[in-house]
Amino acid sequence: MASKQGSQKQGKLSLDSRVRKVNAIIAAVLSFFFFLHATLGIAHEQFGMSDALAFLAWFGVAAVVGHVALCIATSRYMLSDQVRPPSEKKKKHLALKWASGGVLLALVGVHLAAGGASGAGGSIILLLATVALLIALAAHIYIGMKSLTRDLDMSKRARAPLRVVCVCVAVAVGLFLVLSSLV
Ligand code: HEM
Ligand code: HEM
Repeated sequence: MASKQGSQKQGKLSLDSRVRKVNAIIAAVLSFFFFLHATLGIAHEQFGMSDALAFLAWFGVAAVVGHVALCIATSRYMLSDQVRPPSEKKKKHLALKWASGGVLLALVGVHLAAGGASGAGGSIILLLATVALLIALAAHIYIGMKSLTRDLDMSKRARAPLRVVCVCVAVAVGLFLVLSSLV
């Protein structure tokens, strides 16, 4: 009986870690894709360069819906885990990930309502909303990097350089957006 319960717990645990891994892979692809989308989108608006990936952004939106659904599953599992109850620190980190994801979602809503326009064409409000979207995207990835490296079985030492890359890309794309709006 006890061993049956034990193996049920183990089964649930491995299912959770598999869901975490799938979610981490989706999140990593999304992070790379949306930084690329932002760069190509601005280049397209500002310099008329071809934006061959524009239509793929809608597949990205579908993947974000999948990501949020998997986050609900992993969060519920973590909060109801009787075997290894989460520490206060873990709960706070989870709350931070939800808060940053929520802000990101709201700004994506504004972005989609504006038809993807980045504001480089003239509107200062749209420009500020796009800069805020970029900051929210980078902040959410920065905060999630701790779980991302763990869920993808990467070394802890990879976390800091990956965070630096994330900040540098966001700053570069932001500067590109703001400077290209001025010229
Ligand atoms: C982080 C900063 C971002 C910037 C600077 C940006 C910029 C742009 C630009 C310039 C376009 C127009 C592209 C074109 O017409 O070829 C666009 C379209 C689009 N973006 Fe973004 N984007 C960002 C983030 C996101 C995010 C996070 C999402 C969704 C999760 C998203 C979803 C979309 C979609 C679905 C379209 C197509 C809109 C339409 O067909 O009307 N973008 N974006
Ligand atoms: C372009 C959109 C998004 C990107 C690139 C992105 C990226 C990431 C990354 C890299 C992680 C860490 C992965 C991991 O825990 O293994 C993560 C986790 C998370 N994201 Fe997102 N995310 C996006 C949208 C959202 C949205 C819209 C929400 C919520 C409304 C959200 C909520 C969360 C939560 C709660 C976690 C933590 C999951 C857990 O620890 O179990 N994300 N995200």
